[in-house]
Amino acid sequence: MSFNIDNFIMGLPKTELHLHLEGSLEPAQMFEFAKRNNVEIPYKTIDEVKQAYEFTQLQDFLNIYYTGMNVLLKEQDFFDLTAAYLNRVATDNTKHVEVFFDPQGHTNRGIAFETAVTGIHNALTQVGSELGISFKLIICFLRHLDEASAINTLKDAIKFKHLIDGVGLDSSELGHPPSKFVNVFKMARDEGFKLVAHAGEEGPVEYIYEALDLLNIDRIDHGNSCMNDPKLVARIAKEKIALTVCPLSNTKLCVVDDMKNHPLKKMLDAGIVATINSDDPAYFGGYMNDNYSAVANALNLSKADLVQLAKNGFTGSFLSPEEINKHLIAIDQYAENYAN
Ligand code: HPA
Ligand code: ZN
Repeated sequence: MSFNIDNFIMGLPKTELHLHLEGSLEPAQMFEFAKRNNVEIPYKTIDEVKQAYEFTQLQDFLNIYYTGMNVLLKEQDFFDLTAAYLNRVATDNTKHVEVFFDPQGHTNRGIAFETAVTGIHNALTQVGSELGISFKLIICFLRHLDEASAINTLKDAIKFKHLIDGVGLDSSELGHPPSKFVNVFKMARDEGFKLVAHAGEEGPVEYIYEALDLLNIDRIDHGNSCMNDPKLVARIAKEKIALTVCPLSNTKLCVVDDMKNHPLKKMLDAGIVATINSDDPAYFGGYMNDNYSAVANALNLSKADLVQLAKNGFTGSFLSPEEINKHLIAIDQYAENYAN
């Protein structure tokens, strides 16, 4: 029997290190929350929503994403959103998640930081433990807003420091370089938060250098444009700075023109700690296994590549070395026992 990629992917123990909880809001759930909260949405049917999800660039998506999150008002909404996401990725054999949310997307609409963080954290704790999924929680600053707003958000996060592990940077990349957020990232590091940033999704390679050298981040979200700079590729590989790569997001937002041209295999061959993630699965057409399958089939990835990707997810995570080791052993056992 020949090696069945999709079957092997199904049972691989996985992580998700790049997931915007608001981007896991499925159309059906959007309607449900809109109804129970009496919020108007600009769609009549689920089909109409799905038809709106045609993007040629990041900003097309972001406009729709910010409209979608308007249906989230109460702590229960944030709890239900997070619980549904966890239940979904548990079916993909996901064992550990490091998820983002966008506090300013809610506080700017008059929803308290506490409402969002409490609902999300309660679901991660309760539902995560029922499903055997561990987690870290990361807040992202919206880079199209100014640094003062990010600093106010960090002050909120410090009040809930016991619930939050890291800070990140997302939203419209072009024209909003990491250098705009040097002070708030310094403050966050001093508070002991882990640091990540979206860089090199649509933005140039200079934004990746800024994220590394000015913000001192621990991990790069996306990072695709590093492939234009062999010196940077060598540095990222040598320093073991993980990249959270999002294949279906990349093709849906036209960062990559065709999955067959996705740079993931080249990243692995260069020794980069590249990981597979879903970004905004409700908008981009797939969760963890869909992302693994799409890129593995398009690039003809081997069993060894898939094992490496799954392992990278754990080594690139913010788990402790002991926890990481336990998962790496489980991956080796799975691969050894898997009958081709
Ligand atoms: N890029 C930037 N900002 C985002 C994304 C993304 O893919 N998803 C949600 N906010
Ligand atoms: Zn993202």
